[in-house]
Amino acid sequence: MSLTIPPTMRLYAMADRFVWGSFDDSPIVLKALEQSTGPLLELGCGTGRALEVPLKKGYNVIGIDHSKDMLAVAKERFKTYNNLRLLLGDVTQMQYPGFGTVAMLLNTYSVFTDAQVRLDILKRVAVSMNDSGNAVFILKNDNEAGRKSSTREEVSEIEAGKKLHYQGAAEYDPRTGIRTLRLKFRFGDENEHHIIPTILFSVEQFAREAALAGLVVSELYGDFDLSPYHREQSPWQIYLLTHQK
Ligand SMILES: C[S@@+](CC[C@H](N)C(=O)[O-])C[C@H]1O[C@@H](n2cnc3c(N)ncnc32)[C@H](O)[C@@H]1O
Repeated sequence: MSLTIPPTMRLYAMADRFVWGSFDDSPIVLKALEQSTGPLLELGCGTGRALEVPLKKGYNVIGIDHSKDMLAVAKERFKTYNNLRLLLGDVTQMQYPGFGTVAMLLNTYSVFTDAQVRLDILKRVAVSMNDSGNAVFILKNDNEAGRKSSTREEVSEIEAGKKLHYQGAAEYDPRTGIRTLRLKFRFGDENEHHIIPTILFSVEQFAREAALAGLVVSELYGDFDLSPYHREQSPWQIYLLTHQK
Protein backbone atom coordinates (compact mmCIF):
# COMPACT_ATOMS: atom_id res chain seq x y z
CA MET A 1 0.00 0.00 0.00
CA SER A 2 2.67 2.47 1.02
CA LEU A 3 5.13 1.34 -1.65
CA THR A 4 3.72 3.59 -4.31
CA ILE A 5 7.00 3.68 -6.22
CA PRO A 6 8.21 0.14 -6.93
CA PRO A 7 11.56 -0.49 -5.24
CA THR A 8 13.01 -2.11 -8.39
CA MET A 9 14.20 0.82 -10.36
CA ARG A 10 17.61 0.10 -11.86
CA LEU A 11 17.23 2.34 -14.88
CA TYR A 12 15.47 5.10 -12.90
CA ALA A 13 18.45 5.08 -10.53
CA MET A 14 20.86 5.24 -13.45
CA ALA A 15 18.98 8.14 -15.00
CA ASP A 16 18.55 10.05 -11.75
CA ARG A 17 21.72 12.09 -12.02
CA PHE A 18 21.28 13.35 -15.55
CA VAL A 19 17.52 13.91 -15.43
CA TRP A 20 17.10 15.43 -11.95
CA GLY A 21 20.71 16.09 -10.95
CA SER A 22 20.50 19.78 -11.76
CA PHE A 23 17.85 20.48 -9.09
CA ASP A 24 19.70 22.32 -6.35
CA ASP A 25 17.73 22.51 -3.13
CA SER A 26 20.84 22.92 -0.99
CA PRO A 27 19.94 26.51 0.08
CA ILE A 28 16.90 25.35 2.08
CA VAL A 29 18.58 22.19 3.38
CA LEU A 30 21.57 24.21 4.58
CA LYS A 31 19.35 26.90 6.08
CA ALA A 32 17.51 24.23 8.07
CA LEU A 33 20.78 22.61 9.15
CA GLU A 34 22.27 25.93 10.21
CA GLN A 35 19.22 26.53 12.42
CA SER A 36 19.15 23.01 13.88
CA THR A 37 22.92 22.23 13.78
CA GLY A 38 22.04 18.73 12.47
CA PRO A 39 22.25 15.81 12.11
CA LEU A 40 20.23 15.32 8.91
CA LEU A 41 17.77 12.51 8.16
CA GLU A 42 16.56 12.32 4.55
CA LEU A 43 13.49 10.16 3.93
CA GLY A 44 13.44 8.78 0.39
CA CYS A 45 17.00 9.92 -0.31
CA GLY A 46 17.17 8.15 -3.69
CA THR A 47 20.64 8.31 -5.21
CA GLY A 48 21.63 11.03 -2.74
CA ARG A 49 21.20 14.01 -5.03
CA ALA A 50 20.65 16.36 -2.07
CA LEU A 51 23.21 14.83 0.28
CA GLU A 52 26.47 15.98 -1.27
CA VAL A 53 26.40 19.55 0.03
CA PRO A 54 25.51 18.68 3.67
CA LEU A 55 28.11 15.87 3.65
CA LYS A 56 30.80 18.22 2.35
CA LYS A 57 29.89 20.70 5.08
CA GLY A 58 30.60 17.93 7.60
CA TYR A 59 27.05 17.23 8.84
CA ASN A 60 26.24 13.70 9.94
CA VAL A 61 23.62 12.31 7.60
CA ILE A 62 21.33 9.30 7.46
CA GLY A 63 19.53 8.59 4.19
CA ILE A 64 16.68 6.07 3.96
CA ASP A 65 15.21 4.63 0.80
CA HIS A 66 13.30 1.47 -0.05
CA SER A 67 15.08 1.01 -3.36
CA LYS A 68 18.28 -1.05 -3.37
CA ASP A 69 19.03 0.30 -6.84
CA MET A 70 18.87 3.91 -5.67
CA LEU A 71 20.97 3.23 -2.58
CA ALA A 72 23.58 1.35 -4.61
CA VAL A 73 24.19 4.50 -6.67
CA ALA A 74 24.37 6.64 -3.52
CA LYS A 75 26.77 4.18 -1.84
CA GLU A 76 29.16 4.27 -4.76
CA ARG A 77 28.91 8.03 -5.05
CA PHE A 78 29.70 8.76 -1.39
CA LYS A 79 32.01 5.86 -0.60
CA THR A 80 34.74 8.21 0.68
CA TYR A 81 32.49 9.88 3.28
CA ASN A 82 32.38 8.52 6.80
CA ASN A 83 29.64 10.92 7.96
CA LEU A 84 26.90 9.11 5.96
CA ARG A 85 24.78 6.05 6.73
CA LEU A 86 22.42 4.71 4.10
CA LEU A 87 19.58 2.48 5.24
CA LEU A 88 17.28 0.31 3.17
CA GLY A 89 13.73 0.59 4.47
CA ASP A 90 10.20 1.85 4.11
CA VAL A 91 9.78 5.37 5.51
CA THR A 92 6.22 4.56 6.52
CA GLN A 93 7.54 1.90 8.90
CA MET A 94 10.74 3.40 10.31
CA GLN A 95 11.36 5.91 13.03
CA TYR A 96 14.63 7.30 14.34
CA PRO A 97 14.74 9.97 17.04
CA GLY A 98 17.51 12.52 17.57
CA PHE A 99 17.69 14.59 14.37
CA GLY A 100 18.10 18.32 13.98
CA THR A 101 16.67 18.29 10.46
CA VAL A 102 14.41 15.76 8.71
CA ALA A 103 14.00 16.20 4.96
CA MET A 104 11.56 14.89 2.39
CA LEU A 105 12.47 16.54 -0.88
CA LEU A 106 11.41 16.80 -4.52
CA ASN A 107 7.75 15.94 -4.13
CA THR A 108 8.37 12.60 -2.41
CA TYR A 109 5.55 13.30 0.10
CA SER A 110 3.06 13.62 -2.76
CA VAL A 111 3.47 9.98 -3.87
CA PHE A 112 1.68 8.89 -0.70
CA THR A 113 -1.85 9.28 -1.98
CA ASP A 114 -3.40 7.77 1.16
CA ALA A 115 -4.09 10.50 3.75
CA GLN A 116 -3.66 8.10 6.67
CA VAL A 117 -0.22 7.05 5.44
CA ARG A 118 0.78 10.71 5.07
CA LEU A 119 -0.33 11.51 8.61
CA ASP A 120 1.64 8.53 9.86
CA ILE A 121 4.75 9.78 7.99
CA LEU A 122 4.38 13.28 9.45
CA LYS A 123 4.01 11.85 12.95
CA ARG A 124 7.21 9.82 12.45
CA VAL A 125 8.94 12.97 11.18
CA ALA A 126 7.83 14.84 14.33
CA VAL A 127 9.22 12.08 16.55
CA SER A 128 12.52 12.12 14.64
CA MET A 129 12.96 15.89 15.18
CA ASN A 130 14.73 17.15 18.30
CA ASP A 131 12.74 19.63 20.42
CA SER A 132 14.35 22.54 18.58
CA GLY A 133 14.64 20.60 15.32
CA ASN A 134 13.01 21.27 11.98
CA ALA A 135 11.83 19.52 8.83
CA VAL A 136 12.13 20.46 5.15
CA PHE A 137 9.42 19.41 2.72
CA ILE A 138 9.46 20.27 -0.98
CA LEU A 139 6.24 19.83 -2.94
CA LYS A 140 5.23 20.70 -6.46
CA ASN A 141 3.06 23.80 -6.42
CA ASP A 142 -0.63 23.42 -7.09
CA ASN A 143 -1.20 26.14 -9.68
CA GLU A 144 -2.12 26.33 -13.34
CA ALA A 145 1.44 25.55 -14.45
CA GLY A 146 1.63 22.61 -12.03
CA ARG A 147 -1.57 21.14 -13.46
CA LYS A 148 -0.48 21.45 -17.10
CA SER A 149 0.41 18.25 -18.94
CA SER A 150 4.09 18.08 -19.70
CA THR A 151 6.56 15.79 -21.44
CA ARG A 152 10.31 15.55 -21.38
CA GLU A 153 12.88 13.40 -23.17
CA GLU A 154 16.56 12.89 -22.45
CA VAL A 155 19.17 10.64 -23.98
CA SER A 156 22.51 10.09 -22.36
CA GLU A 157 25.42 7.85 -23.31
CA ILE A 158 26.17 6.02 -20.06
CA GLU A 159 28.43 3.32 -21.50
CA ALA A 160 30.30 3.41 -24.79
CA GLY A 161 27.73 2.69 -27.47
CA LYS A 162 24.86 2.27 -24.97
CA LYS A 163 22.42 5.08 -24.52
CA LEU A 164 19.94 5.53 -21.71
CA HIS A 165 16.66 6.93 -23.00
CA TYR A 166 14.28 8.70 -20.64
CA GLN A 167 10.76 9.80 -21.47
CA GLY A 168 8.64 11.46 -18.80
CA ALA A 169 5.06 12.67 -18.97
CA ALA A 170 2.79 14.24 -16.39
CA GLU A 171 -0.98 14.44 -16.64
CA TYR A 172 -3.39 16.03 -14.18
CA ASP A 173 -6.92 14.73 -13.73
CA PRO A 174 -9.13 17.53 -12.34
CA ARG A 175 -11.83 15.01 -11.28
CA THR A 176 -9.52 13.09 -8.95
CA GLY A 177 -6.91 15.78 -8.25
CA ILE A 178 -4.23 13.21 -9.14
CA ARG A 179 -1.22 14.14 -11.24
CA THR A 180 0.08 10.94 -12.81
CA LEU A 181 3.71 10.65 -13.81
CA ARG A 182 4.64 8.13 -16.48
CA LEU A 183 8.37 7.51 -16.59
CA LYS A 184 9.88 5.28 -19.26
CA PHE A 185 13.52 4.21 -19.40
CA ARG A 186 15.33 2.16 -22.04
CA PHE A 187 18.94 1.00 -21.91
CA GLY A 188 20.01 -1.56 -24.50
CA ASP A 189 17.47 -4.39 -24.19
CA GLU A 190 16.28 -3.33 -20.74
CA ASN A 191 13.03 -1.43 -20.31
CA GLU A 192 11.50 0.05 -17.20
CA HIS A 193 8.17 1.81 -16.88
CA HIS A 194 6.84 3.53 -13.77
CA ILE A 195 3.36 4.96 -13.34
CA ILE A 196 3.37 7.19 -10.27
CA PRO A 197 0.19 8.91 -9.06
CA THR A 198 0.94 12.07 -7.08
CA ILE A 199 -1.16 14.63 -5.25
CA LEU A 200 -0.98 18.39 -5.64
CA PHE A 201 -1.42 20.20 -2.34
CA SER A 202 -2.58 23.69 -1.57
CA VAL A 203 -0.47 25.39 1.09
CA GLU A 204 -3.52 25.31 3.37
CA GLN A 205 -3.98 21.55 2.97
CA PHE A 206 -0.33 20.79 3.67
CA ALA A 207 -0.30 23.09 6.71
CA ARG A 208 -3.44 21.32 8.01
CA GLU A 209 -1.82 17.90 7.60
CA ALA A 210 1.35 19.11 9.36
CA ALA A 211 -0.74 20.54 12.23
CA LEU A 212 -2.36 17.13 12.79
CA ALA A 213 1.14 15.80 13.52
CA GLY A 214 1.95 18.71 15.86
CA LEU A 215 4.04 20.60 13.31
CA VAL A 216 3.76 24.19 12.15
CA VAL A 217 4.97 25.92 8.97
CA SER A 218 7.68 28.34 10.12
CA GLU A 219 8.94 29.39 6.67
CA LEU A 220 7.58 28.99 3.14
CA TYR A 221 9.43 29.64 -0.14
CA GLY A 222 8.48 29.25 -3.78
CA ASP A 223 11.70 28.11 -5.43
CA PHE A 224 15.12 26.61 -4.71
CA ASP A 225 16.74 30.08 -4.55
CA LEU A 226 14.46 30.76 -1.55
CA SER A 227 12.37 33.35 -3.37
CA PRO A 228 9.07 34.09 -1.59
CA TYR A 229 6.15 31.77 -2.27
CA HIS A 230 3.60 33.09 -4.75
CA ARG A 231 0.47 30.99 -5.36
CA GLU A 232 0.34 31.48 -9.14
CA GLN A 233 4.00 31.98 -10.02
CA SER A 234 6.03 29.62 -7.87
CA PRO A 235 7.02 26.21 -9.25
CA TRP A 236 7.44 24.70 -5.78
CA GLN A 237 6.23 24.89 -2.20
CA ILE A 238 9.30 24.73 0.03
CA TYR A 239 8.44 24.34 3.69
CA LEU A 240 10.39 24.60 6.89
CA LEU A 241 8.41 22.97 9.71
CA THR A 242 9.00 23.14 13.46
CA HIS A 243 7.23 21.65 16.47
CA GLN A 244 4.12 23.51 17.64
CA LYS A 245 5.01 25.32 20.85
C1 LIG B 1 11.05 11.68 -6.14
S1 LIG B 1 12.35 10.59 -5.59
C2 LIG B 1 13.34 11.74 -4.68
C3 LIG B 1 14.76 11.28 -4.47
C4 LIG B 1 15.67 12.25 -3.71
N1 LIG B 1 15.13 12.57 -2.40
C5 LIG B 1 15.88 13.55 -4.46
O1 LIG B 1 15.39 14.58 -3.97
O2 LIG B 1 16.50 13.55 -5.52
C6 LIG B 1 11.49 9.69 -4.33
C7 LIG B 1 12.33 8.65 -3.62
O3 LIG B 1 11.56 8.13 -2.53
C8 LIG B 1 11.76 6.72 -2.46
N2 LIG B 1 10.58 6.15 -1.81
C9 LIG B 1 9.29 6.17 -2.24
N3 LIG B 1 8.48 5.56 -1.36
C10 LIG B 1 9.27 5.15 -0.33
C11 LIG B 1 9.02 4.45 0.88
N4 LIG B 1 7.77 4.07 1.22
N5 LIG B 1 10.06 4.22 1.71
C12 LIG B 1 11.32 4.60 1.38
N6 LIG B 1 11.62 5.25 0.23
C13 LIG B 1 10.61 5.53 -0.61
C14 LIG B 1 11.95 6.28 -3.89
O4 LIG B 1 12.64 5.05 -3.97
C15 LIG B 1 12.75 7.45 -4.47
O5 LIG B 1 14.13 7.24 -4.35
